[in-house]
Amino acid sequence: MALQLSSAGFCLFRGRRALTTRAVASEDVTTLKEENKVKLGGSDVKVSRLGIGAWSWGDTSYWNDSGWDDRKMKAAKAAFDASIDGGITFFDTAEVYGAAFMGVVNSETLLGRFIKERQQKESVEVAVATKFAPLPWRFGRGSVLSALKSSLSRLGLSSVDLYQLHWPGIWGNEGYIDGLGDAVEQGLVKAVGVSNYSEKRLRDAYNQLKKRGIPLASNQVNYSLIYRNPERNGVKAACDELGITLIAYSPIAQGVLTGKYTPENPPTGPRGRIYTPEFLKELQPLLTRIKEIGQGYGKSPTQVALNWLTCQGNVVPIPGAKNAEQAEEFVGALGWRLTDQEAEELRLLASKTREVVGFPVEKL
Ligand SMILES: NC(=O)c1ccc[n+]([C@@H]2O[C@H](COP(=O)([O-])OP(=O)(O)OC[C@H]3O[C@@H](n4cnc5c(N)ncnc54)[C@H](OP(=O)(O)O)[C@@H]3O)[C@@H](O)[C@H]2O)c1
Repeated sequence: MALQLSSAGFCLFRGRRALTTRAVASEDVTTLKEENKVKLGGSDVKVSRLGIGAWSWGDTSYWNDSGWDDRKMKAAKAAFDASIDGGITFFDTAEVYGAAFMGVVNSETLLGRFIKERQQKESVEVAVATKFAPLPWRFGRGSVLSALKSSLSRLGLSSVDLYQLHWPGIWGNEGYIDGLGDAVEQGLVKAVGVSNYSEKRLRDAYNQLKKRGIPLASNQVNYSLIYRNPERNGVKAACDELGITLIAYSPIAQGVLTGKYTPENPPTGPRGRIYTPEFLKELQPLLTRIKEIGQGYGKSPTQVALNWLTCQGNVVPIPGAKNAEQAEEFVGALGWRLTDQEAEELRLLASKTREVVGFPVEKL
């Protein structure tokens, strides 16, 4: 669903807020727009250099202090609109986010609604990524197509730009990979990817799809300044070697790298069990340096943490935004660059901190 150009104007990634220019020549618009986009692996799909994660939209199991209401829904819609206004047009969701069977609104349904409402006002460009959940009772290629059709129905779309296997299947993955290939051939998706895949699984999936002439576009994994496992376990290097985009989830460590959580004010809910006061205390030297470096650029810690990821090359971070302010801040993570020395200094400082615990799905 990578769509048309907006007729109203074009937003540059610059500073904390997006600037809107209306009086630029059409060639300039194209150039600027292209500059802030990247191809997903070897596919033809181009997305903004940074996407927005929609896990928290409608979720009551991990986010939102176990409650979803109209106020949170309006804030999520404002996050969507602010992202589009700022030129961030890539959105990541999944069939299990805010899953309907848990009695709340599904993230896909909300995203589909937000797109439709915006499209009713003007023509906007949106690239949608969603994910198949390889639940133990789902077998083979047919289950992928059937889940995809349900996702498309919730999204209100005839195809998505990227369809990903959310985590490795416990019975094997060949059938699921075949299902991804079928989805491409049936025109239901433009590109396919995986998530939480080890180097070995990544190479296997890449080779299996290659036999059908289909590129494996991406691997979505946990990656941030304080979770650099992909650099050690061979996943980042394999992505770079094979031309697979690494989509970085939890890129601001679930809010912790913004600097707003302190030992005295740790996050509530399930996050509080990971980012404990002791952990947050250990993190302070890194957070202080992130802040100092940011000040030199007029950038916030959030923007520095996201920029650090883009400096690693071949990485598209997808921070989660709950409201317009958070989305606007992400826009300012692009359009500038830390120096190599600063990026290395932050890595070194981060390596002196205990690493956060990853998601169990990575260990399947
Ligand atoms: N494939 C997978 O297995 C997998 C796993 C996890 C995530 N993901 C994807 O990755 C996306 C992002 O990961 P994530 O949501 O886990 O973590 P994240 O992006 O690192 O953190 C998002 C959270 O940080 C806080 N925040 C965001 N912007 C902020 C700002 N500017 N200032 C202060 N606080 C801010 C918000 O929570 P508070 O305001 O409540 O602090 C927000 O919900 C998800 O939405 C999902 O699409 C995928």
